[in-house]
Amino acid sequence: MRQLNPLGSSSAGVLLVSFLSLVQISKAVKHGDFKTCAQSGFCKRNRALADQATAAGASRTSPYELDANTVALKDGVLTATILKNIGEENVELPLVFSFLDNGVARVTIDEAKRMTGQIELRHGSTAKKERYNEAAKWALVGGENFHKDAIIKTEDGVTSVAYGPAGYQVKITHKPFSVKFLKDGEAHVVLNERSFMNIEHWRPKPEDSDGNKGDDTWWEEAFGGNTDSKPRGPESVAMDITFPGYDHVYGIPEHASSLSLKETRGGEGNYNEPYRLYNADVFEYEIDSPMTLYGSIPFMQAQKKGSTVGVFWLNAAETWIDIVKQKTNVNALSPERATTQTHWMSESGLLDIFVLPGPNSSWLYKQYGDLTGFTALPAAFSIAYHQCRWNYVSQDDVKDVDRKFDKFDIPYDVIWLDIEYTDSKKYFTWDPLTFKDPETMLKTLDKRERKLVAIIDPHIKNDKNYAIGNELVNKGFGVMDKTGKKIYEGWCWPGSSHWIDCFNPAARAWWKSLFDFKKFVGSMPNTWIWNDMNEPSVFNGPETTMPKDNIHYDNWEHRDVHNLNGMTFHNATYEALKTRLGPGKERRPFVLTRSYFAGSQRTAAMWTGDNQADWSHLAQAFPMLLAQGIAGMPFAGADVGGFFGNPSKELLTRWYQAGAFYPFFRGHAHIDAKRREPYLAGEPYVSIIRDAIRLRYSLLPTWYTAFHRASWEGMPILRPHFVMFPDDEAGFAIDDQFYLGDTGILVKPIVSEGVTETSVYVPEENMVYYDYFDYTMYNGKGIRSVPAPLGSIPMLMRSGHIIPRKDRPRRSSGLMRYDPYTLVVALAPGGAGGVLYVDDGETYDNKDGAFIHRSFIYNPGDKTLRSGNLHPEPAKAAKYVKEMRDVRVERVILVGVTDEWKDKKTVEVKQGSKTWDAEVKFVEGKEGRASHVIVRNPRVAIVKDWTINFA
Ligand SMILES: *[C@@H]1O[C@H](CO)[C@@H](O)[C@H](O)[C@H]1NC(C)=O
Ligand SMILES: *[C@@H]1O[C@H](CO)[C@@H](O)[C@H](O)[C@H]1NC(C)=O
Repeated sequence: MRQLNPLGSSSAGVLLVSFLSLVQISKAVKHGDFKTCAQSGFCKRNRALADQATAAGASRTSPYELDANTVALKDGVLTATILKNIGEENVELPLVFSFLDNGVARVTIDEAKRMTGQIELRHGSTAKKERYNEAAKWALVGGENFHKDAIIKTEDGVTSVAYGPAGYQVKITHKPFSVKFLKDGEAHVVLNERSFMNIEHWRPKPEDSDGNKGDDTWWEEAFGGNTDSKPRGPESVAMDITFPGYDHVYGIPEHASSLSLKETRGGEGNYNEPYRLYNADVFEYEIDSPMTLYGSIPFMQAQKKGSTVGVFWLNAAETWIDIVKQKTNVNALSPERATTQTHWMSESGLLDIFVLPGPNSSWLYKQYGDLTGFTALPAAFSIAYHQCRWNYVSQDDVKDVDRKFDKFDIPYDVIWLDIEYTDSKKYFTWDPLTFKDPETMLKTLDKRERKLVAIIDPHIKNDKNYAIGNELVNKGFGVMDKTGKKIYEGWCWPGSSHWIDCFNPAARAWWKSLFDFKKFVGSMPNTWIWNDMNEPSVFNGPETTMPKDNIHYDNWEHRDVHNLNGMTFHNATYEALKTRLGPGKERRPFVLTRSYFAGSQRTAAMWTGDNQADWSHLAQAFPMLLAQGIAGMPFAGADVGGFFGNPSKELLTRWYQAGAFYPFFRGHAHIDAKRREPYLAGEPYVSIIRDAIRLRYSLLPTWYTAFHRASWEGMPILRPHFVMFPDDEAGFAIDDQFYLGDTGILVKPIVSEGVTETSVYVPEENMVYYDYFDYTMYNGKGIRSVPAPLGSIPMLMRSGHIIPRKDRPRRSSGLMRYDPYTLVVALAPGGAGGVLYVDDGETYDNKDGAFIHRSFIYNPGDKTLRSGNLHPEPAKAAKYVKEMRDVRVERVILVGVTDEWKDKKTVEVKQGSKTWDAEVKFVEGKEGRASHVIVRNPRVAIVKDWTINFA
């Protein structure tokens, strides 16, 4: 969250009240606090260069040339020098072009002079002279299997490399330098086709003050009362990346924008500003905007009918991305299609581009995950419901909320403490008056297997009486100011603060030590952590963050590492929590972060920051969460109810119905918002909210199974239409309905006021979609009207799927561990199938095989439902299977049966050598509803192979 009042919210009394009423009237982002492209020197320069290159009659040619004499290919890696012609001399730019077995290719361009330190820094700066070359160290975990047999050929000024799966080829044109990525002869991605490539080489500052052609942003840049000293001068990198024939691009979170990204160079319905990636605490952010937000993942997916490709721009400095689409009428018969042209610009660092070939979403996400890692399989409790507010003000308040949830029969797993629980914003302490005895409070929560998440931020109070603050200073673990010698000081929640520098391994080790139970006294094993403000947010800093010329560990400038900063911090917290119980007792940590980068998915969940309690923010959340899934970080949510302001009861209720489909599901509210715990809403709202939360709990087996798939294959939890139906161009821009994992559950939550019905796009001609609740059938492709009065959530089941649920309401998910399952079979003429993944939800025993992985298949030929084992090494599961042996299926529902089933009274069940009958009941579907049968208590075990024969 972000401050309303720099004096601190709890102490300001009357002053605060009047200040707040001001804020209430003008709820809008302060545009003036954040740079536009024109105010960001390198963005302005690169856009101007793009304009020159594309102007009518432009004569500018790209000054980059591959020096043919330098080209060498060895073990799948091509090295060469690119020369930048700047008149009398050439600037040498070493190129490393890597070719991987799976068709991924990587282009890395550095600058010889900076690499070898042949540059002079101004202002006596101690910063490193090299271009930042450690983003890969943080973001990548592997996936780089070089294609050692890549074949090279040079002809007529073009070097071609054949590599990867059959049909993959790269063509590098030497002069001007450009690269085409082809498959079966067709270009899918092109670099520098439009001559926007730009590597700002090092140059000394001209003596003559006019020598820089009037562009003073080369040498220093002032914004918001801060002057960036830019000791290395201009050093941006930029490239145009074209996707020929691809008319939609997605990804590059975090932006409050549509899933299918918009054009950014003006024109009707387009933005005028590029999408920006510069992690920042954007107070009261606006929706439908390319403005930067709290996190950055520079991964973009391009989609056309039947093919998908991706680009990962590995750079942690401030980055802007322009997007335009060129319409071309391919031929008179096909519809007009577009080529998407993008322009990527980063302030510093290497030019480092991965091209990922797809050719479909599942392969693309796997390729990206192989590089940056997959989302960690979360602790099971963390995908249940979380209750937060700034703030639960005392341990009695916490216990009261805990009791009320039980009194109103609303399940929840986690209660949260925002900053006020601390003693004067000193992390690892508790307020001595309001949280006198946190251990008793935590034990109370633990009785129902509930957890506490406490906030711990990276700003450390600058206070002589705070031991941790002193240690930070004395050990030199803080981020330094531009001199590199003095610890940086700025303002945040505690007032004057320093920032831990988690780029420093020793600082990370120290951070880890602070989570020792003897040091963080009062915390317990059921305490988990929320890392907020890690962009970092600095109230008095430029754009609410740190000056770019601050110095980090190993003398890297903050400029180079800014977008990585948040990740280094939540990674350190994760590593600390993982081993908190001691060696051999590792548990899957839960860490929520606000700031993130590519790779953050390995250690944290994210939420979309400080949204507002209005309908437009409710609607905006889904496109944002879908983009997170595209970019490999699906454990994502938005504050249910909206952070700022007070939602109407209808809005709050709709928000819970939507939130039940957020991978991370948490209610949260600003300190000045009225209390809005779900049980306060009054009827009928409380009951509707209870139903929504219970729906989430009932589907937890399905959510967990979807997370499991994401954790090894990268498939998003919420699947947008284009991922499910990559040939259905009509649906490529849909971002208000989505599918849940592999379950075929199609949801379109209501995100506007006063709605009683909604239109759902049913995308298939020959598949029935059943209403999830009453089995109403929707047949045939097209837009269908689905009733949606306040009490209901538009939710359909695609036929052909089997959905595992747990239908017994409990107080927390931990208490459901041994509860029986219900299987819902949505019948299609070809049958139905589904998957269930279960493990202890807490430890890493699953990595040693302690899990249950079942397939359920209904075969219409012999009318038999079968449970089969997907575990590759069942013997390794033996101990866990024993623990779970009494967990049964208590109900099977087959939806979409014909009248033939009417007289069926029993079905035959077989498990192992035993056979028995189970009772079955037919329910006739009326008024457009499907008929269904219910098998009561078939008594089959979830860990066993079995069949239920309906013939
Ligand atoms: C994705 O593409 C790969 C490679 O062509 C193919 O083997 C795989 O079956 C495709 N997957 C889907 C879901 O179409
Ligand atoms: C956290 O960061 C450290 C240091 O870069 C790295 O070694 C470790 O693998 C990271 N942890 C995870 C789970 O990515």
